[in-house]
Amino acid sequence: MIGFAGRTAFVTGGANGVGIGLVRALLGEGCKVAIADVREEHIERALKSFDNREVMGVNVDVSSRAEMARAADEVEAKFGTVTLLFNNAGVNLFQPIEESSYSDWDWLMGVNLHGPINGVMTFVPRMIAHGQGGYVVNTASMAGWLASGSPGIYNTTKFAVRGLSESLRYSLAKHHIGVSCVCPGLVKSYIYASDDIRPANLMADAKPVNAEGVERLAGMHQVGMEPDTIAARILQGMRENQTYIFPMPDHKDELAEYFEESLGDYRDYPHDTGYEERIKIEAFRRKSYRVQRDAAKQAI
Ligand SMILES: NC(=O)c1ccc[n+]([C@@H]2O[C@H](COP(=O)([O-])OP(=O)(O)OC[C@H]3O[C@@H](n4cnc5c(N)ncnc54)[C@H](O)[C@@H]3O)[C@@H](O)[C@H]2O)c1
Repeated sequence: MIGFAGRTAFVTGGANGVGIGLVRALLGEGCKVAIADVREEHIERALKSFDNREVMGVNVDVSSRAEMARAADEVEAKFGTVTLLFNNAGVNLFQPIEESSYSDWDWLMGVNLHGPINGVMTFVPRMIAHGQGGYVVNTASMAGWLASGSPGIYNTTKFAVRGLSESLRYSLAKHHIGVSCVCPGLVKSYIYASDDIRPANLMADAKPVNAEGVERLAGMHQVGMEPDTIAARILQGMRENQTYIFPMPDHKDELAEYFEESLGDYRDYPHDTGYEERIKIEAFRRKSYRVQRDAAKQAI
């Protein structure tokens, strides 16, 4: 089981929402924690709320490889090797894909997908070299399972975070590094204000902000899960080394319905030429995947 006390944690998007809940929970476990966020004033506000010398702020745009490497150096110089990485920063945008621009894609893919990729590429080699195991938690979303027309780019990024997380989980098991993918539904957070931090160089063809829509979202997030509640459940999921951490029960039936419907798209085709040989290859692959899943479960 992963032990927390004394480890250094790096929490992206740590100044608000899920992230600040994680920061509080990790400090409570005796970790040294870096709040990595793009909102400088929110980092300052968060730091002031902690009467604890084992927490620092680092201003970073997770979509930048260079900034991530600089942030890692800064944190490790003060707190030592990061062995708990939380790729949590994210932004949302509600509009259909056919009404979206390349700058919309670049912004969301940059933060929600390249952010976790940059986190992994920056920190995981250091974690492996350190040799003390560790943990990577990637925040996806229930939007990484359930799609609809309007959050098209957001859906794309969150489905991809699941792929990243699962593959990484199996490859890092041999280094005793756990990987979990968190899939929240509504959280009481600040994500409805994402437009405020859209970079100026990614504004081309951006739709005007729909103030009414933002207000509606803000209201919905008010009934979201409290950051401290979700954070406690994430840490519990890490202790249990779960592949997926579903911190709320809200979508369980819907997910079952979705899998049932997806399986319903299979057809009983007659076996084509090559089927008999192909199925042997698949049986071999399936066994190896089973072995990898079991190994990841035992790894920490
Ligand atoms: N709030 C929800 O209902 C909900 C639901 C499912 C998944 N999520 C996911 O949870 C994660 C956390 O979001 P939240 O809801 O706590 O939102 P939030 O806006 O309250 O917190 C996200 C933090 O990320 C920071 N951030 C944004 N872009 C950044 C960048 N480029 N570099 C560094 N920091 C950046 C923001 O400044 C903010 O402090 C996100 O990945 C989000 O997609 C949220």
